Amino acid sequence: MSIGFIGAGNLARAIVLGMLEKKVVAKEDIACVSGSGATASQLSNETGIAVSHSRLELVAQADTLVLAFKPQHLDTVTPEEGDAAKGSLVISVLAGRTLDSLRAAFPSARNVVRVMPNTPSRIGKGVSAYCFQSEPTDADRSLLESLLGALGERYEVQESQMHIVTAVSGCGPAVFFQFIDFIAQAAEKRGLDHALATRLAIGTGIGSLELMKQSGQLPSELVDEVVSPNGVTHALLTQLADDEWANILDTGIEAAVRRSIELSQPS
Ligand SMILES: NC(=O)c1ccc[n+]([C@@H]2O[C@H](COP(=O)([O-])OP(=O)(O)OC[C@H]3O[C@@H](n4cnc5c(N)ncnc54)[C@H](OP(=O)(O)O)[C@@H]3O)[C@@H](O)[C@H]2O)c1
Repeated sequence: MSIGFIGAGNLARAIVLGMLEKKVVAKEDIACVSGSGATASQLSNETGIAVSHSRLELVAQADTLVLAFKPQHLDTVTPEEGDAAKGSLVISVLAGRTLDSLRAAFPSARNVVRVMPNTPSRIGKGVSAYCFQSEPTDADRSLLESLLGALGERYEVQESQMHIVTAVSGCGPAVFFQFIDFIAQAAEKRGLDHALATRLAIGTGIGSLELMKQSGQLPSELVDEVVSPNGVTHALLTQLADDEWANILDTGIEAAVRRSIELSQPS
């Protein structure tokens, strides 16, 4: 088995490091190529994987291809490269690029799969959703699951659900980071110094999410455990409800879904 990465940036690095750490595949069986060659050399120096001389060479040699360049680079795949992927499994992490557009670029691939990962994949705590174009063989499903398992949790979805997945788990890390930053800003505004405000907000975020994970309790149950009638948390949550923060998040997710749909339309 050999895996070729087209694109060797942040996401390719996360996948390669995860796969090597979990021993899903040996470094001798992985190669990469990038645009300028700079990131491919960096990734090769860091991990010991090979660098191919060209995209065509990589595509011709790999049994499994991982498309990890920017979504617009899919349009630069030549018919020759597309044909060279005959019989290969093509895995794409390109935001917004549909299974049909992937299939058009790689018409004779044995199967095509679209994945939406997220940035916590860098530390093996990601959430990825995926959909195959056609029913995969057991071997292909197991290969994909091991590859994504190296990044964290993975869930199979329908392609029609990918826009919602993008809004929730693809964009989600930014929502959580922004949320923590807003809490820190509010604390700073009221007199805590910046470093302490930030540490309190980050520590509370990490501790709360870890508690949610380890306890297995529902988020709503954990809210109830913190709130006492007419207490301080009650005052905070009542004000947020009056400000319709659930609605604010809902319309934010709606905007992300809309934008994801727009970006997936042919230009
Ligand atoms: N980062 C995330 O959390 C995340 C989440 C979901 C989906 N994604 C998807 O993952 C993909 C990669 O994102 P990233 O954050 O890893 O980007 P990145 O760090 O900017 O890496 C992009 C890579 O593409 C290479 N490249 C540029 N032009 C190329 C070409 N013509 N042919 C082949 N390779 C080329 C670059 O090479 P050089 O720089 O060496 O020229 C670089 O290795 C994107 O499509 C994105 O939609 C990312």
